[in-house]
Parts: sequence; C-alpha cells; structure tokens
Amino acid sequence: MREPKGPPESALDPEGSAARGTALPPAEFAEAFNDELVRALAHVGHPDLVATREDTQIQDLLFAGLKDEIEASEIAAVWMVAEVDLELKLGLARQVGDEARHYRLLADRLRQLGVEPGGVDPRARGYSHTFRYLKGLQTAAERLAANAAREGLARLRNALVASFCDARGDGETARLYRDVIGPDEAWHLDFARRMVARYALTAEDQERARHAMVRTLQLVDDLPEGARAKGGAAGPTP
Ligand SMILES: [Fe+2]
Ligand SMILES: [Fe+2]
Repeated sequence: MREPKGPPESALDPEGSAARGTALPPAEFAEAFNDELVRALAHVGHPDLVATREDTQIQDLLFAGLKDEIEASEIAAVWMVAEVDLELKLGLARQVGDEARHYRLLADRLRQLGVEPGGVDPRARGYSHTFRYLKGLQTAAERLAANAAREGLARLRNALVASFCDARGDGETARLYRDVIGPDEAWHLDFARRMVARYALTAEDQERARHAMVRTLQLVDDLPEGARAKGGAAGPTP
C-alpha cells in the first residue's frame, strides 16, 4: 500500500463548519458529499485502478475480480446484520446477493475461457486492507460514505477492464462488465449516496463520513496480493 494521497480540498466543509460544530442541512450535505466524491474520483489514476502490462491476461483481471466480489458481499453482510433501519438493511441485503452473483458470473466467464477458478481460493492470502478498514467502521454514516467511494471506484475500474477486454478482442467479457455487472454497481453507488445524508446529521457524523470516503479512496491501490505482480486489476470491483 503506497502512502495515501492527500485528501482533496473539501467541498463539504469549505468554511470549517465541522470544526465549529455546525452541521450542514441534509440536502446540502448530500449535494456537497456527491460533489466531493465526483471530484476525488476524477483524481484517481488509471494505473491505480487497473495495473495492466504487456503480458496481462484477461483471466488475471477476472481472478482479481473474484476477491473483490467476495469481499464486497461479505462486508455488506456484516453491515446488514448490524443494521436496524429496514430500508438500509434491505438495500445491503440486495448488495450481498448482487456481489455474490458477480462472483459467480466472473467464475463462469473464467470457465468459458478455459480456466478453472475452483482451484484457487481468492481468500487464501487474507483480507485486503480495504476490507479490514471497512469492517472497522462503526457508524452507518461512515459505512455508507465508504461504500459510495468503493462503488464509485468499482464503476471506474469496471469501465477500464471492459475497455481492456475490447482492445484484446474479448467483447463478451466487456459486455459482462458493462451490461450485466455495471447496472448493479450503479444501483449500489446511488443507494449509498442517497442514504448517507439520512445518517450524517451532526457535524461530527458529517466529518466522519467525509473522512471515511476520502480514506477509502486512498486505499484504491490496495491490490490483492500478487495481482499487480501479474499485471492484474485490483481493489474493489464490487
Ligand atoms: Fe460487484
Ligand atoms: Fe457493488
């Protein structure tokens, strides 16, 4: 994991209101949170998302995606169990199922490409730094903010993987990422962005949510072990 990049200038707290203990109104916070997320995502480097090399194989990207999907499913399950709010619990339940389905889809695609994924357990080298960070978040506002960042990264990464597959002449894998997995990730992102303002009501919660979003983006280069060495994609494709 490389040294974290500095946090972007905050649209959420332009006048230091959090330091003064003044919370933004929910709608204002939601808009500012989204603006900051979009701006921060624009600064994420493509090599941090998909570290491809001349000899990178599409199967490397698919294998890296397996770990991302199982971790995304598991963290959503951890949060779901602890959640009281029914709308949030059901949203997380959907995400648990979606990410597990993505895992199956990537595994099926590997088989279609002649590679048996069953012999490799993507959990064998342990959980990623991102997973451990997300698991340690204690409040719904932090979890939703981090989830929005993770899903935003996923959308960027999946678009890059799809372009890589197209360039290699594998339109079927590109279609899988764009047309099958892509809409689910868009839903996860929109759900997290929509819900975060419901929970980030105090100045402290808003600041903690912002920090969770920034920190999750800083962990973007948290590659599954060995993925970068093989030229594979890394981090969340949830
Ligand atoms: Fe996913
Ligand atoms: Fe997702």
